[in-house]
Amino acid sequence: MTITSPSPKTTAVSPTTVEPKLEALLNRVETSLADELVPVDIFNEETVFRAEMEQIFTRTWVFVAHESEIPRAGDFVQRRIGVDPVIVTRTGEGRINVLSNYCRHRGSQVCQTDSGNSRFFKCPYHGWTYSNDGELVGTPMMHHAYGEKLDPKDWSLMRAPRVESRQGFVFASLSEEVPTLDEFLGGAGWMLDLIVGLHPDGMRVAGPPDRYKVKADWKTAAENFAGDVYHVPNLHWSTEEIKVSQGLQGTAEIGRAYEFENGHNFMGHAWTKAIHPGFVLWGYPPEITEQFDLSGLDEAGRFVVDHEPPTVGTIFPNLSFIRFLTPATPGGPVSVVTSFRQWQPIGPGEMELWSWQFVWNFESEESAQQAYVTGQFVFGSAGIFEQDDTVAWEGVPRAAASPWMRKEQMNFHFQMGRKSPVDQSPDPDWTGPGIHRNTGYGEHTQLNFYRHWLRVMKGGDAKSAQPAESTQHIEQNGGRA
Ligand code: FES
Ligand code: FE
Repeated sequence: MTITSPSPKTTAVSPTTVEPKLEALLNRVETSLADELVPVDIFNEETVFRAEMEQIFTRTWVFVAHESEIPRAGDFVQRRIGVDPVIVTRTGEGRINVLSNYCRHRGSQVCQTDSGNSRFFKCPYHGWTYSNDGELVGTPMMHHAYGEKLDPKDWSLMRAPRVESRQGFVFASLSEEVPTLDEFLGGAGWMLDLIVGLHPDGMRVAGPPDRYKVKADWKTAAENFAGDVYHVPNLHWSTEEIKVSQGLQGTAEIGRAYEFENGHNFMGHAWTKAIHPGFVLWGYPPEITEQFDLSGLDEAGRFVVDHEPPTVGTIFPNLSFIRFLTPATPGGPVSVVTSFRQWQPIGPGEMELWSWQFVWNFESEESAQQAYVTGQFVFGSAGIFEQDDTVAWEGVPRAAASPWMRKEQMNFHFQMGRKSPVDQSPDPDWTGPGIHRNTGYGEHTQLNFYRHWLRVMKGGDAKSAQPAESTQHIEQNGGRA
């Protein structure tokens, strides 16, 4: 759905050329990736970071807000596309705009607050004033300063040329030359529908996002949520020890990989096999599931939500998701928690983690509150899972900055599937989009993420074909992919 109009001022960004030093590194990434390795350098390197901001974040769809954050005319939130601050506004006509938060006079940020409701934004420096669709509507002391009205066509806020939404998730692109959001999402859009579209009223944010800085590269988090189930029984073992979790050891075995075009990936779990045949729909209680409308689901979608629902996922480049059933305290009441999170790049090896809790619009306040509190307990900024992950991720940029590791041209290891006896081949009976595998072993989702990252970094267009299969696996596993 397109929800914005062109003008007053749009910006289109063309692919940039790759500078020689970066090109050499990307060639090394290409060679390494063919061998299912990733050079350490890409996780803390100024040239890589700058290229990511230019090649990826100005040339593809990036999540900016959920519509439930700006439900009324005049509502706005301040967000980011890569390192650029943007204001996401809803105008009096209900249109959503994504505006550059840089004043056209001399570059001050015209909006200094995280969220609010306003028809205008007045720059704090000299007072140029813009309407909430970005148009320049006021310049102090206009007659003496400029003699005549400045033309809004030339001096309004820059506006993202493409803004579209799916299931209330608003994405913007700083390039006009992108496919539609639905085309870009592909199979990930189908999965998003399964996650938040099972009730016609949909889901909403339960509050503003938690935000905190992590000394880790944004890709490390995106890759983890793309489907790293290998870390769960190790890094999060303390949650099993205090009886918040159970059966973590089987996380990879019951994992179910979903790989889609354009670097999008999800990882589900075969809960009906692992827990109980009746444990369908993420384990939501009957008072919730009774209100779901499953009538529009295709065969694959119905199978997924009943038997192998997604637990985590990453929509390229930096929007991730997690949903699972957990108690709020050991032995306490359980809730299904849903969080969407965004890995906001700050600089090489540093990001800001933004995480939103989501609840169903139709559920009672009491139920929503319990889901929110439980979500904060596990995946809030002090959540017992969240802290485990962020501490582990912070080692990556340190390794990437290490002169020793660079001298040795160290690679990170993504070869899990090579000699594994576990069948990781794409499921031949799968009728849904993309690739489905009946295991979480193999690191296929992470590789799918990095292959797309490389493609876009090398200047390829932001839309790729179906997820690429690794020829290495086919050769080494005797014909099985
Ligand atoms: Fe905004 Fe001067 S920088 S009015
Ligand atoms: Fe984790």
